[in-house]
Amino acid sequence: MKIAVIGLGKAGLPLAAVIADGGFEVIGVDVDTARCKDINNGINPIPEESGLDELIRIHGGERLFATPDYDDARGCDAYVVIVPLFLDKNVNPDFSILERAFRSVGKILKKGDIVVLETTVPPMTTATLAKRWLEDASELSIDSGEFYLAHSPERIMTGVSISRLKEFPKIIGGVNRDSGIRAFNLYKGFIPHLHLVSSSGVAEFIKVIEGCYRDVNIALANELLKIADELGIDFYESRAYANHDYCDIHLPSTGVGGHCIPVYPWFLIKAMEEREKFDRSNLLRTSRTLNDQMIYYWAEKILLACMKLNKPLSDVKICINGITFRDGVKELYHSRNLALTRLLMEKGLNVGVYDELFTREEIENMGLKSCEVEEADLVFNTFSLELTTKEVT
Ligand SMILES: NC(=O)c1ccc[n+]([C@@H]2O[C@H](COP(=O)([O-])OP(=O)(O)OC[C@H]3O[C@@H](n4cnc5c(N)ncnc54)[C@H](O)[C@@H]3O)[C@@H](O)[C@H]2O)c1
Repeated sequence: MKIAVIGLGKAGLPLAAVIADGGFEVIGVDVDTARCKDINNGINPIPEESGLDELIRIHGGERLFATPDYDDARGCDAYVVIVPLFLDKNVNPDFSILERAFRSVGKILKKGDIVVLETTVPPMTTATLAKRWLEDASELSIDSGEFYLAHSPERIMTGVSISRLKEFPKIIGGVNRDSGIRAFNLYKGFIPHLHLVSSSGVAEFIKVIEGCYRDVNIALANELLKIADELGIDFYESRAYANHDYCDIHLPSTGVGGHCIPVYPWFLIKAMEEREKFDRSNLLRTSRTLNDQMIYYWAEKILLACMKLNKPLSDVKICINGITFRDGVKELYHSRNLALTRLLMEKGLNVGVYDELFTREEIENMGLKSCEVEEADLVFNTFSLELTTKEVT
């Protein structure tokens, strides 16, 4: 079995490395030529990914060959697609990258091959759009059994992807029965904990609703924090005793960022809107709004803390400590910590940023002011949500 992995990003590369480590020959296709070169030289482009250095050093350029050219993957028996899916400015899914990747795979597809989509997508994407793109480009037909198509959502977390792939149960479902069984048998070769579900739609829905669950529950935690604050009650003490087997109140935050959790609820909200079923996704929409609006709550808290200092407001040095969307991950996509920083800047406040993952230069290149935590009159630690002020004389 020769397997192609299309997209060698934060999700695709660990998967490609694990497949290669399982003894398969892997062709990794990525449009980023420099990234391919690094991988083939044994250099890991995602150093924060635990255990990946070693796998890339051993397999890069050998059992895992990276290339920007889809033609190099011709002759593979299986294609795993894991390229990004972004939202457009109206928060509708933008399928353009996915379509390009599928049409490119379609051109090199041969009879008997199997294609598995791993990118998280709106339910039914695999059985409709992906099927159509592949059939158009290959002139082969799934319904006639000429090739097979399935969905297996990536469930990794950057930083611990290798162990997640080895330990966390993975789901797989086909667009038809044969596709499901073939995909299951293929993946069993490198994924130890694998469940075959009844369809690709179920597999897609499982991943999307995980994200929705997290978003709604974080929104609940954020709302309860604000209520506790109004009532003068310690939220964290209350949460510690409220949580038990049947209650899992999440941690509050500055909002929800990254490519996953804030994106997936929109897949369902928009799918219901398209059908004019506006009453079906109220909770998802409210949770999205609530989480996105948390920056206003924190901006107000910071402003009130500044006003207690014995200094003109515009002179108070504010330090935002941590601007990434998640602690320890150098990623800013939909980062609410970054959005909070910009909001405070727009208000004319004297705001600097400290983030151990970024150099001073990187911070300044984003149009932000770099600062040291010790220099500030007020520090907001975005992950612990601690606000500390120093006495200003
Ligand atoms: N990163 C995570 O923690 C995570 C977790 C769960 C699921 N996912 C899923 O994985 C998908 C990809 O995420 P990621 O974090 O790997 O993104 P990423 O931006 O790190 O990587 C995407 C890669 O795809 C490449 N690419 C873009 N267009 C291409 C094309 N036409 N052909 C070949 N390669 C192409 C890019 O050059 C890039 O290297 C997400 O959309 C999400 O559904 C990611």
